[in-house]
Amino acid sequence: MTMAFSSLTPVFVAIICVLIGIIVKGRKTNSKNEPRKTSKKAESRPWVDDDLKDSTDLHPEEEDDGEWQESEDIAHTPFSLERYSEEDMIKRSKNFYELLNKRRSVRFISDEPVPREVIDNVIKTAGTSPSGAHTEPWTFVVVKDIEIKHKIREIIEEEEEINYKKRMGDRWVNDLKRLRTNWIKEYLDTAPYLILIFKQVHGMLPDGKKKTHYYNEISVSIACGILLAALQNVGLVTVTTTPLNCGPRLRVLLGRPTNEKLLMLLPVGYPSKDATVPDLTRKPLDDIMVVV
Ligand SMILES: Cc1cc2nc3c(=O)[nH]c(=O)nc-3n(C[C@H](O)[C@H](O)[C@H](O)COP(=O)(O)O)c2cc1C
Repeated sequence: MTMAFSSLTPVFVAIICVLIGIIVKGRKTNSKNEPRKTSKKAESRPWVDDDLKDSTDLHPEEEDDGEWQESEDIAHTPFSLERYSEEDMIKRSKNFYELLNKRRSVRFISDEPVPREVIDNVIKTAGTSPSGAHTEPWTFVVVKDIEIKHKIREIIEEEEEINYKKRMGDRWVNDLKRLRTNWIKEYLDTAPYLILIFKQVHGMLPDGKKKTHYYNEISVSIACGILLAALQNVGLVTVTTTPLNCGPRLRVLLGRPTNEKLLMLLPVGYPSKDATVPDLTRKPLDDIMVVV
């Protein structure tokens, strides 16, 4: 009896090993198909926007790896703002609307120089934007160097040609037909300034600690809106562009760190003499406003 049992033991052990092997393999295969698991801490990050992902995006676990800065207390000071009569408010709101209603995306930009001080001021204005927990998660890279502008054009045209031909799909390309846009972007050479707006997905302090940048994409988008208004206010034009798949290459070209992701590129200048724009109309108030 003992003999029979001991002769069975190696067979029994071999069967157990095979079964364990099958179970372990099965688990590995399943985990490949499952979405990437994040820690509980990383899952609860409602301020992170579903943004234009690029291959340099950090994973939540990596973002949580480092040490994070302690928040400091700040003093609160009295606040007051100039008050206008209702008549003045109506006049000012109307004037501001009329000014911004003239804003158009212009894709034909002259090479006529623009005073640098104006650029400084419009970017200072953009920097007045509100931001999640006052983190100011933006970097405005102003490019005026002719050669760097041209390198930017080369990168964008190369990627945009692939975007139009392969990545965007028929519907998107068809929707853009009426705007007559394509991958040739002459304005990247002619505009005296290119402003590349990067969102900082987190802050980096000199001591290596990281700082959470709550709602960074929304914050930077608001700053971009203010920048568009500031440009309109001084009689300059731009076109809001979001060059698909160009972020990492442009970030590297401009020597920006990995916590910065390209959100928008604005070529800035005066409209060229032969500039045209699509004859678009805007939705009336009743279509965009609901009062309850
Ligand atoms: C988020 C966003 C991304 C855009 N991306 C591009 C772009 O990559 N290239 C382009 O030529 N225009 C781009 N545009 C400009 C739109 O085509 C333009 O705003 C729209 O046609 C309305 O025209 P308007 O700006 O003259 O009112 C973009 C606009 C927005 C708001």
